[in-house]
Amino acid sequence: MLNCSRRKLLRAATSLAAVGVCGGVATASVGMSQPAPGLAAHAAARGMFYGCAIDHDTLAGPPAALAHVPAECSMVVGEYSFKWDSTQPARNDFSFTRADAVMDFAERNRLRVRGHNLLWHEAVPAWLPKILTSANGEALLTQHIEAVAGRYRGRMAHWDVVNEVVQPDDMQPLNLRDTLWTRALGARCLDIAFEACARADPTALRVLNEFGTDYAIPWQERKRAALLTLLADLVARRVPIQAVGLQAHLDAAEVTLDQAVLAKFVADIASMGLKIVVTELDVRDDRLPADPVARDIAVADHAGAWLDAVLPNPAVLGVLTWGLSDKRSWLDAKFPRPDGLPQRPLPLDDKMSRKRLWSSIAAGFDGLTPRLANRL
Ligand code: XIL
Repeated sequence: MLNCSRRKLLRAATSLAAVGVCGGVATASVGMSQPAPGLAAHAAARGMFYGCAIDHDTLAGPPAALAHVPAECSMVVGEYSFKWDSTQPARNDFSFTRADAVMDFAERNRLRVRGHNLLWHEAVPAWLPKILTSANGEALLTQHIEAVAGRYRGRMAHWDVVNEVVQPDDMQPLNLRDTLWTRALGARCLDIAFEACARADPTALRVLNEFGTDYAIPWQERKRAALLTLLADLVARRVPIQAVGLQAHLDAAEVTLDQAVLAKFVADIASMGLKIVVTELDVRDDRLPADPVARDIAVADHAGAWLDAVLPNPAVLGVLTWGLSDKRSWLDAKFPRPDGLPQRPLPLDDKMSRKRLWSSIAAGFDGLTPRLANRL
């Protein structure tokens, strides 16, 4: 493991080597025609992976939008395509056009795939809440997981089996979020989902994916504690969970990033024998002034500090960002900037040039002691 100041130096060196900055515009190539190795190569040199979210609508659009994905990534995740309302839009009427498009793109380009997700309180098809009861809940959940995870059996690297299930403020048993699933099945919905996924696709890494665990602020402190308690309970009861996904939707204006807190949190997860995946990294900049260079520096430094705290733990398998280029990010709809400018949350800019965030992620990998590559 490298100490922090050595990693900072490495980050600066990677930044100079990989990104030439001319008047604020980052250029990515070295030499005449040979592009510098992508983020996946930096990750692979340390036994890890790097990937990004892609989606069926981008796949249906101009190919240029995804042209950089194979060079930068070793893994992709469907941003929307595998969610319930894409895969079972009407009851018993499964639709795999969108999910298959992601799978086909990945397999054509030899990329691994994360499935996202099998149990969530959002992206729920309209028919489900109308009919879901405690009597039919287990059958509905199991049938869905058998159909969706079963279809990609043996081809899926990971499944986000359950997504965003912790919410201490909802005052539910085990600090679970109060959702259509817990109302129908209680905490048992987690067991049912993990067990169904283990049967449907035993080789896919089974992940509990969560947001809001990044900062030393009270609601996130409560959430980290609640998540650790929930994980201990699942592990003690031998529910077949194997990993935790840290979404890492970061905020460049947040001043409470505490590396010691983060490192301890990740170590606590690892101590239960669970792996960790950084699943949806991006950095919102809607509370920063407009200047793009200043924003890019703040975004890169912020993500760098987060990654430096998390990645050194050997239980961390890899990193995915929630998109690859600023041309398309969910953050522009979710947290629009007051000045109307697009956010700059991702490793490539809207012209597909590598930004400082790209360098920060590359340096995050470069600074690590190589670990045994595994197929998880
Ligand atoms: C988001 C997508 O990016 C949006 O396009 C969609 O409208 C809503 O879902 N956490 C998750 C993801 O687990 O599924 C969310 O994705 C972003 C937050």
